[in-house]
Amino acid sequence: MLERTESAAATEAVGERLGRELEAGDVVLVSGELGAGKTTLIRGACAALEVGAPVTSPTFTIGQRYEGGRVAVSHLDLYRLGGDLSGEDPGLLDDYLTPDAVAFIEWPGAAEPQLGRIAWRVEIRHAGGDGREIELSAGATGRAA
Ligand SMILES: Nc1ncnc2c1ncn2[C@@H]1O[C@H](COP(=O)(O)OP(=O)(O)OP(=O)(O)O)[C@@H](O)[C@H]1O
Ligand SMILES: [Mg+2]
Repeated sequence: MLERTESAAATEAVGERLGRELEAGDVVLVSGELGAGKTTLIRGACAALEVGAPVTSPTFTIGQRYEGGRVAVSHLDLYRLGGDLSGEDPGLLDDYLTPDAVAFIEWPGAAEPQLGRIAWRVEIRHAGGDGREIELSAGATGRAA
């Protein structure tokens, strides 16, 4: 599915639609350049999942975990690792990738094989000014959008 948005609010709305489809255990990879709108889309998805807290980039930690919504939500940003988990504590992601949580992962990079079953992949591309192209594809589960 390919979406085109012209504002951050519209990208959030795409995220909200995705969020309504998600269930515990789903892992969603969110790729795209710096400032593409990955966190913005995840913010919309978190709204659909009834996360009450403000959703911002986990800049100084690897991730955030939000409890108390429709389902637990983890938000990871692997940018700092350059997608390479090889030099890290092998349990680094264990508190985030749990069966009771939906997990969003920015900058998955080469860590992908360690992220479990991927439910959705989102790719966001700059398309001039505030324009963005958002490609959503279901992962191995093959559930329809
Ligand atoms: N159509 C659009 N969709 C999403 N964001 C947009 C759009 N137009 C403008 N923006 C702006 O682009 C920025 C996107 O920032 P955001 O933090 O979501 O990007 P990111 O991909 O998570 O970046 P990073 O790689 O640094 O984590 C915001 O300032 C947002 O307001
Ligand atoms: Mg971000």
